[in-house]
Amino acid sequence: MPGQLHKWPAWPEYSTDNATSQDQDFINTKKTIIEEFGQENLQKAWIRVCTDLSSVTDEIVKRGNEIIPVCFSDQILENGFLPDDQERIKKTGCVIVRGALPQAEVQTLYAEVHQYIADNRNTISAWPSETPSMYEIYDSPVQNTIRSHPRHLKLQKLLNALWHDESGETSSDPLVYYDGVRDRPPKQVFLGLGPHIDAGSLSRWAAPTYRKVYEAVFSGHPETHDAWNLEVRKDAVQDLFKAPSHSSVFRAFQGWTALTSSRAREGSILLYPNVAATIGYMLLRPFFNPPEDEADIMDASKWTFDENGCVFPGTKKDESQFLSRSSHPHLRLEECMMHVPDIQPGDTVWWHSDLCHAVDPEHEGTENASVVFIAAVPTTPMTKVYIKQQLADTLAGLQPSDTQGKVNERLLKGYRGHEHLSEEARRAFGYYL
Ligand SMILES: [Fe+2]
Repeated sequence: MPGQLHKWPAWPEYSTDNATSQDQDFINTKKTIIEEFGQENLQKAWIRVCTDLSSVTDEIVKRGNEIIPVCFSDQILENGFLPDDQERIKKTGCVIVRGALPQAEVQTLYAEVHQYIADNRNTISAWPSETPSMYEIYDSPVQNTIRSHPRHLKLQKLLNALWHDESGETSSDPLVYYDGVRDRPPKQVFLGLGPHIDAGSLSRWAAPTYRKVYEAVFSGHPETHDAWNLEVRKDAVQDLFKAPSHSSVFRAFQGWTALTSSRAREGSILLYPNVAATIGYMLLRPFFNPPEDEADIMDASKWTFDENGCVFPGTKKDESQFLSRSSHPHLRLEECMMHVPDIQPGDTVWWHSDLCHAVDPEHEGTENASVVFIAAVPTTPMTKVYIKQQLADTLAGLQPSDTQGKVNERLLKGYRGHEHLSEEARRAFGYYL
């Protein structure tokens, strides 16, 4: 099957994880939701999402990574996403857009950022500490060149427009959220980011504004959950529990722009190509206990409602939301986590803020696998506040507050500032907010 893992990596399992069971934030959150929505609705929703997942997973297994939509920048930038593309993106929650930037241009940019990192290696931070590959630089010339490229900005805008909001308080005009760079050498194993979902963890349940996004799920109608409704989501507090792994900013899509080529088992990324049923299942999971007999595990009706226990599998306040085979069996992660197809320099991969994804645990290629993380961020009251502050911080030599970094990037060798930015780019960087 194209895209499937050949062997399941040694990613952690969360089935016996009960670290949350004594934490008052977890206990109160669960109690509040049961009181607000009722056991009956939660049970009804559970049966429904598990039933839906049965056909969702069958389809993913049947189609492999060919289910991930692939579009071509030249066509998208000219005509927008066609209705058929939109339908596939909304169902799978992800899209690959090839050729966002010309390949030759990107190869030059990669050489530049590689050198920039080498020149400043003693100053900038990187993780994991034993095998650094995620570099905590945010305002480098290459990152800014790519983010502000007219083709990239237009693509960000088109991606933002896949969300809808009738309040009149938001627009698809892109804002630039500062994120880092990955430059991963061959043979480097990385197990730190197994199947997980960005945009907060316990906040999804605990923050009333965030929980509202999933009202249809909790009230027993997960099939009507609209994963693309910005009207409610724009006010969601994603970082009720502050930590560097949580972005305080809503990202319509998290994304990477490839600086080098990458393939399955060569430092690529894996996606779980379904958004609505998956997030519904993940949210309902803490309310149910699995049947004792392993043979009944896939029978949702044999799971029992858990009113008093308090285990949120894979949820830690200061980390992203993690998922595992044993804790979330109906997702059939082993069969459904899909490597994206082969990626070339200048291609982009985009995934919805609720999409489960994982960093390729292996890199058996011969060249570095490098990407810049550039999200699609629409203009909303909350994103405006953060981006304005991010710009003020940057100009003052501070790293963005979400990252908690402490390096003055203005002092790095090769730093260029923002003088070369176009008017359009300056708008996206927050100069006119
Ligand atoms: Fe992630």
